[in-house]
Amino acid sequence: MNIDILLGLQWGDEGKGKIVDAISPGYDVIARFQGGPNAGHSLEFNNVKHILHLIPSGIFHPDKLNVIGNGVVIDPAVFRNEIEELGPPVSELVNRLIISNRANLILPTHRILDAAYESHKGNSKIGSTLKGIGPAYTDKTSRNGLRVGDILDKNFMEIYKDHKNYHLEILKNYKHSFDLQEYENEWFKGVELLKKFRITSTEYLVNELMEKGKRILAEGAQGTMLDVDFGSYPFVTSSNTISAGACTGLGVSPRRIGEVFGIYKAYCTRVGSGPFPTELFDETGIRLRDVGHEFGSTTGRPRRCGWLDLPAMKYSIMINGVTQLFLTKADVLSGFKTVKVCTSYKADGKECSEIPFRSEITPVYTEMEGWTEDISRSRTYKDLPAALKKYIEFVEEQTGVPVTMVSVGPDREETIYRK
Ligand code: GDP
Ligand code: IMO
Ligand code: MG
Repeated sequence: MNIDILLGLQWGDEGKGKIVDAISPGYDVIARFQGGPNAGHSLEFNNVKHILHLIPSGIFHPDKLNVIGNGVVIDPAVFRNEIEELGPPVSELVNRLIISNRANLILPTHRILDAAYESHKGNSKIGSTLKGIGPAYTDKTSRNGLRVGDILDKNFMEIYKDHKNYHLEILKNYKHSFDLQEYENEWFKGVELLKKFRITSTEYLVNELMEKGKRILAEGAQGTMLDVDFGSYPFVTSSNTISAGACTGLGVSPRRIGEVFGIYKAYCTRVGSGPFPTELFDETGIRLRDVGHEFGSTTGRPRRCGWLDLPAMKYSIMINGVTQLFLTKADVLSGFKTVKVCTSYKADGKECSEIPFRSEITPVYTEMEGWTEDISRSRTYKDLPAALKKYIEFVEEQTGVPVTMVSVGPDREETIYRK
């Protein structure tokens, strides 16, 4: 059996959590492969909304196994909060969730370093979620990290202190005040909770399960345009958010990749700084934010909104090898007289369809007819308004990839499967 990958094609918040929850019944295992508590994945059922940060979005299906892979960075304090808010008792959750011993830990001092670095950046702030992601991945690649497996070491306290002191030395170079004690207490409570879960070499587990014919879904965090290599660097996150990241973040071979589901919103949003060619600064942008409730799931910050950006999407499809597109938030566009799609850019006076390394670009739009119908109750593709179908088919023509799912609301039931 192969592993399918679901990931975001834009700047994050495409609706990955909702879709993973909706399609989980078709899988045995749901595995997160990168990112950490910077992610906020929302899903809804029975009129209750849940927001997950570290835990895979399959967790509400009692018969599924959820894996936090080696590519994820884990803050035990966030983990504990999340476990406590989930609902099911820990005694039950320990059977549903397994954690890689190789996943790196976010230390309390990583969070402080994140804030110190960001405030030092002056006008070029990244707009980080300040969860310690950058410093934790930096320590991982510079080979100074602490991993989940280390918490089982009898000398863990000493190793932890060495790491903390190393960070405190760095912090002396920054004028940054902080209170470590309170968060450290929470962090250690989280470490104790982590120990109740099975901590193991999940790469063996995932490969064994594939051999046994189990169906595995890899759940991405952030989006392709926030990838550390291919996003709008330096305004990116610190991990590989792309399909290749599922191989390194779970320990599976590229030959095992089956379907790659690319999630895209009917428009674009971005939270934090960095280029956003189709950003709208007018009433339309405000309307998208209000109707789409575009406020960060992790930080509550208002998201920047703009029209769909096809050159960016084509780039994401190419990098990820997307085999199927899933459209979300189509319902939010109801009621616009016309909708615009960016089909190319203008850079240095010339039209281009590639994302430039670094230069000012302006979007070139195709304007399409809008639709007025409330589609949130539609459950079949043929029920959708003709203008929306045209909008969807235009994306298919332009990208050469079929749109096989349309999400028309945040609830797991508000989903149209086309194939
Ligand atoms: P993720 O990070 O990709 O999982 O996305 P977020 O959860 O951060 O943001 C997506 C937001 O849109 C959440 O509030 C979801 O509940 C909501 N959502 C997801 N799909 C739909 C949809 O099809 N229509 C509407 N109106 N909301 C949706
Ligand atoms: P999900 O998984 C949207 C953005 C931050 C910032 C940049 C770097 O919910 O789609 P970091 O905390 O990683 O140092 O922030 O990346 N960012 C996200 N934006 N959705 C996310 O995750 C994000 N995770 C990080 O806003 O611009
Ligand atoms: Mg999110």
